[in-house]
Amino acid sequence: MSIAYLNGSWQPLQEARVSVLDRGFMFGDGVYEVIPVYQGKPFAEDEHLARLATSLKELHIMMPRSEADWRELFREAIERGDEDEAILYVQVTRGVAGSRSHVYEDSEPTVLITLSPRVKPSLDHRLSVVTKEDFRWSRGHIKSISLAANSLAKNEAISEGYDDAIFIRNGKVTEASSSNVFVVKDGVVVTPIADNFLLHGITRAQVVALAKQHNIPFEERDISQEELLAADEVWVTATSIEVWPVQKVNDQWISNGEVGLIYKKIYNLFQELKCQSN
Ligand code: PDD
Repeated sequence: MSIAYLNGSWQPLQEARVSVLDRGFMFGDGVYEVIPVYQGKPFAEDEHLARLATSLKELHIMMPRSEADWRELFREAIERGDEDEAILYVQVTRGVAGSRSHVYEDSEPTVLITLSPRVKPSLDHRLSVVTKEDFRWSRGHIKSISLAANSLAKNEAISEGYDDAIFIRNGKVTEASSSNVFVVKDGVVVTPIADNFLLHGITRAQVVALAKQHNIPFEERDISQEELLAADEVWVTATSIEVWPVQKVNDQWISNGEVGLIYKKIYNLFQELKCQSN
């Protein structure tokens, strides 16, 4: 069942309503988190709460709940939703303004939590992606609800016959429209540095930690578009999809479309991590 907590009350998701003067609605002025639930428990809850705090701070929005309150609300959402595998979506906006104005006043943040069943990605379908100029703002580390640019890039990619877009800024890979990017070349796993041009993905950090723990050669550095195209393996990571292999970039096969050995290793390690943490 999909349920929602909105500013203190629980209701069916379809019935939840906010004011048109909510700054999230008017300006996309808010932040969000997507937290996976495995075996009835939030996964990497501490990391998601820490990133939520960072995003709110960056936008000067008040933290509306204590850490203990968030944890209790997540627990209640899972109990009410009654799903073993689910996705918790958390959104905090600056709240409802008196009138539409670029200048913000003090307002009570709007707090939304929803719990929906998790749709498992079909890993048999390996992704075909296209590179696109990264035309987004330079604060990609903020998990902002203003996702028009990401959404536009993904929809353009789909209408051109691809599954997704990978953004290129000044010749270097930043991230995909809703995931982080990894490449493997000659046995070395590489991902772009977590700077202000991309989201510091929680799944990304977990994959980096796994590579380090298991002595898989790893580097965090710039990846040029040429390196992306010449990679032995390309994967994308995000909460909703975990680690997903890419088989084609700009219509060019990556290693003839074979699933990479390092991908398989990381995928299995990630599955173990999910089980251990519960
Ligand atoms: N997307 N980069 C972008 C632009 C994203 O939107 C996401 C996540 C990620 C991966 O972050 P994480 O591993 O913490 O999920 C990277 C979420 C899932 C979404 O918007 O639904």
